[in-house]
Amino acid sequence: MLLNHRNVTANEMLHLALNSREIHLIQRLRGMKKSYQGHEIQYQKMKNKDVLSWDEMIGHNKGITNDTKRFLMDVLAQPWAPKGGKVIELGCGTAPILRWLCKKKFEGLGVDVSKTAIKMAREQSKGFDIRFKRADVCNLSAEKSRTFDLAVDGHCLHCITQPEDRKRFLKNTFRLLKEGGLFIVMTMCAPVDRKMFSNLFQEQKLIDRIIYAPYDRATEYEGSRTFEGRDYIPTRYVGHCKSILTELRRARFHPRLIRYSHPVAQVPFSNLAVGALARKSFVKHPAS
Ligand SMILES: C[S@@+](CC[C@H](N)C(=O)[O-])C[C@H]1O[C@@H](n2cnc3c(N)ncnc32)[C@H](O)[C@@H]1O
Repeated sequence: MLLNHRNVTANEMLHLALNSREIHLIQRLRGMKKSYQGHEIQYQKMKNKDVLSWDEMIGHNKGITNDTKRFLMDVLAQPWAPKGGKVIELGCGTAPILRWLCKKKFEGLGVDVSKTAIKMAREQSKGFDIRFKRADVCNLSAEKSRTFDLAVDGHCLHCITQPEDRKRFLKNTFRLLKEGGLFIVMTMCAPVDRKMFSNLFQEQKLIDRIIYAPYDRATEYEGSRTFEGRDYIPTRYVGHCKSILTELRRARFHPRLIRYSHPVAQVPFSNLAVGALARKSFVKHPAS
């Protein structure tokens, strides 16, 4: 390959010489930040504008959307779903989902990487039986095993873009659930309507199932890449819905209720919602 060296940045040179696993390792050794730490900036903006939740910021209502509510109600109505007990929400943001669940006989723990999100969640959850903790869902070693009846991913898993971190997230969740506990996952996925994506997100790139956003200080972040001389950080993972189900099964979850929805107007991504049981032994269910 012929290169015009004057136009090649140090980051590009690194990528040309090494494979992605090696790059990831080097970036980790350099003590780089994880791109999901950038959510803090988003919550500071929300707080300054009195926006109460992530959904409100992206133009939905303040509480949880009807779509989310419908899926939660469907899953919790199943005979194998817990009817109360302890729930952990991984990536709770300002906790609209947890508050909804805690009106239904659950007591909650909300975990989020953003300090401001946790502060806003505490302010909005006075009077609810919910504790909050600032932590990275890929590193929950301080939490006791087999504590929860229910774990909820309300669109956090798709923020975890690196394969090793996703494995850690799922492994932690499995460990924290009681035997037979329920994991509810709601996540963006592929197929993606590429034309709609590039019309709506002209600045962003979708490469190898990862969405990259341009960022000036991208080289401080793990997984950062340079495309056409501009630096980008990974922000979302949109793997195919089938491969996300495979990730869950590998982490010993047994999907029992699966809902998949196609891209719709203004939303170029598919969505996968799963109710899966944490079972150590393999049980073949007719529905999985
Ligand atoms: C799309 S928002 C959804 C928030 C919340 N579930 C809701 O319904 O409003 C995703 C959330 O995941 C959090 N998050 C992303 N990566 C995380 C990580 N590694 N550890 C903890 N929280 C994380 C973000 O800070 C953000 O609050």
